[in-house]
Amino acid sequence: GLSRVLGNCLHHENARIHRSINASSLLNRTWSYRFHKGRSNNISTSTDYPEFRDLPHIKTHNDLYKFSIEDPELFWSRLARSRLTWSKDFSTACKSDFSKGKFGWFEGGVLNASVNCIDRHLEKRGDEIALIWERDEPGTHRFYTYKKLSEMVGKIGNLLTNSGVKAGDRVAIYLPKSPTAIATMLACARIGAIHSVVFAGFSADALAGRINDAQAETVVTANQTIRGGKLIELKKMVDAAVSKSPCVKRVLVYYRTEAKVPMGKLDIDMTKAMVQESPNCPVVERNSEDTLFMLYTSGSTGSPKGITHSTAGYLLYTNVTFKHAFDYNVGEKFGCVADIGWITGHSYVLYGPLSNGGTTLLFESTPLYPDPGRYWEMVERLKLNHIYLAPTSLRMLLKSGDEYVKKYDRSSLRKLGCVGEPLNHEAWEWYYNVVGERRCDIIDTWWQTETGGICISPRPSEIGADIQPGMPMRPMPGIDLALFDSQGKEVKGEDVEGALCIRRPWPGMARTIYRDHDRFLKTYFQTVPDVYYTGDGAHRHKEGHYQITGRMDDVLNVSGHRLGTAEIEDVMDDHPDVAETAVVGFPHDIKGEGIYAYVVLKDGRKTKKNELDQQLRNAIKKKIGGLALPEVILFTPGLPRTRSGKIMRRILRKVASNKFDELGDTSTLSEPEIVDFIINKHKELL
Ligand code: WT7
Repeated sequence: GLSRVLGNCLHHENARIHRSINASSLLNRTWSYRFHKGRSNNISTSTDYPEFRDLPHIKTHNDLYKFSIEDPELFWSRLARSRLTWSKDFSTACKSDFSKGKFGWFEGGVLNASVNCIDRHLEKRGDEIALIWERDEPGTHRFYTYKKLSEMVGKIGNLLTNSGVKAGDRVAIYLPKSPTAIATMLACARIGAIHSVVFAGFSADALAGRINDAQAETVVTANQTIRGGKLIELKKMVDAAVSKSPCVKRVLVYYRTEAKVPMGKLDIDMTKAMVQESPNCPVVERNSEDTLFMLYTSGSTGSPKGITHSTAGYLLYTNVTFKHAFDYNVGEKFGCVADIGWITGHSYVLYGPLSNGGTTLLFESTPLYPDPGRYWEMVERLKLNHIYLAPTSLRMLLKSGDEYVKKYDRSSLRKLGCVGEPLNHEAWEWYYNVVGERRCDIIDTWWQTETGGICISPRPSEIGADIQPGMPMRPMPGIDLALFDSQGKEVKGEDVEGALCIRRPWPGMARTIYRDHDRFLKTYFQTVPDVYYTGDGAHRHKEGHYQITGRMDDVLNVSGHRLGTAEIEDVMDDHPDVAETAVVGFPHDIKGEGIYAYVVLKDGRKTKKNELDQQLRNAIKKKIGGLALPEVILFTPGLPRTRSGKIMRRILRKVASNKFDELGDTSTLSEPEIVDFIINKHKELL
């Protein structure tokens, strides 16, 4: 039960603080930086939060936070009515039942997400830029106005409808980061279909798995995609996936390049078909709680789960957090470089920026193409005001030297955001000093696919306008954080650590796992009763500032990509020569976490070990994708187990991290000599 799960989680070995985070210097808090804007700690209810103008006691960010927790009904319903456009007003802000994992926000309300992201801006901002497409080919960006985007959404919406897609149907999207991808997502929203974007770096098999789980009849893809100058045969991958997905009835193909690709019975040339369609597509109204989209993410066990998000709650939450976490002003250019295949792309490339009438960047390339100056050259050329990226790319770029940054004019930048993994000390300093010229605030945001939007982020407060490096710091309004110990007891006070949980519902929270509500309930609401369990550990510092210490379960974070150890083990276990496997993470300088696989072979196998190594890698690439390839595969005659037969992952993690003197008590192992074997083998591989 509870104590077993939490007990496993909270023992020292699981609080896996990244090696290069200097934890003690963070704890001692030797430095901090002033916020550059906000300058005063006060918020303005006339400009920032006009919804609360009549509440004179709200003067500071802390006042607002307190109010949001004390009266969430008033807080969220006023924001919902003023920030979103409704066809029918809602009755209550929130209904919730943690014991059933059931949450309802703004029930009774009717709205459409595409209307909120496009139509309502057309009158005043129709000729303003909605999308900046930073194509892979350097220096060839394109601008798309709200009017232009509206036409594309209308045409694709009509094309989908005329092809037989109806409200509630799932549409799998496997596209490069492009205006067509954004327009397709919004077209789904317009006709009430549920989009399920699959990152184009996942393999054909992984795509097929997601198509089948969602029972998607429609796939939208491109002939090819181009990344870092390399062509990738996307349509071929889709053909392979569709051959394993009998539910698919149609495949829309967008021509990203000139290259002809074979078109089969199910295929529709989308680029051509769009010419025929009318740009005016009727809106299908949605109830607040209707699913806007689903997105697959990895858990600690089993196959990836289809996390679903609601229409009204999700849209409001991304709208509000986008504006206030980044202090975004309409007219500014926001550059989130994440792919649309991840939640960051959904929330802070599309729904947050466009629901605010903002200008958002679609970065199709990689930070190293044509050289490590790509981001900063782009910042200069496009005059970006905000950039939002992953710590892993900072760690990679800082190794290439400062000259790639300093060459370009970054004076347009105002806020520097990051997300996905702990931002270590060195990367923080480099981001702040070199990239931001000590002018820009570093906004380290913590959140998850399941939270829909940012939950913890630095903002000025009444107790001190400082940003503390290395932590996302403060809960966003409405987010009620709590830490729990291994007994499931709340850990109170400051300078303490525990399992990070959220005690109150918030509009952006996930609503279920597609077709598996039971798994949703078990994963998030039963480890600690009556709260949302994040799976992360956190340290609460003085003044209530939170620092994330890392996942406490068997979920890996490799270059900001979330992967389940069990998924990788499952692929390797399928090999006929493999008896069993155990996959763990270890600290990696650039990726944050690297993948380390221990493999036990069956007796009497014929294949040589180096061939097996290659076959296992090929299988992982085929079943999941290149992003899941292990750094190390270590063949061993056995795995360390307790006498009751449980694999001691703690020991496997310590060995992979070179911490041989921290193995702890090994006397309870059934075969202690296995550990010596593994250590020796590991040293050989180094
Ligand atoms: C996991 C969620 C939310 C978009 C990107 C990842 C880790 C996220 C931070 C941060 C330390 C972070 C957590 C979390 N994480 N942001 N600022 N500091 N860790 O979304 O794929 O759902 O992964 O990413 O471990 O649980 P995701």
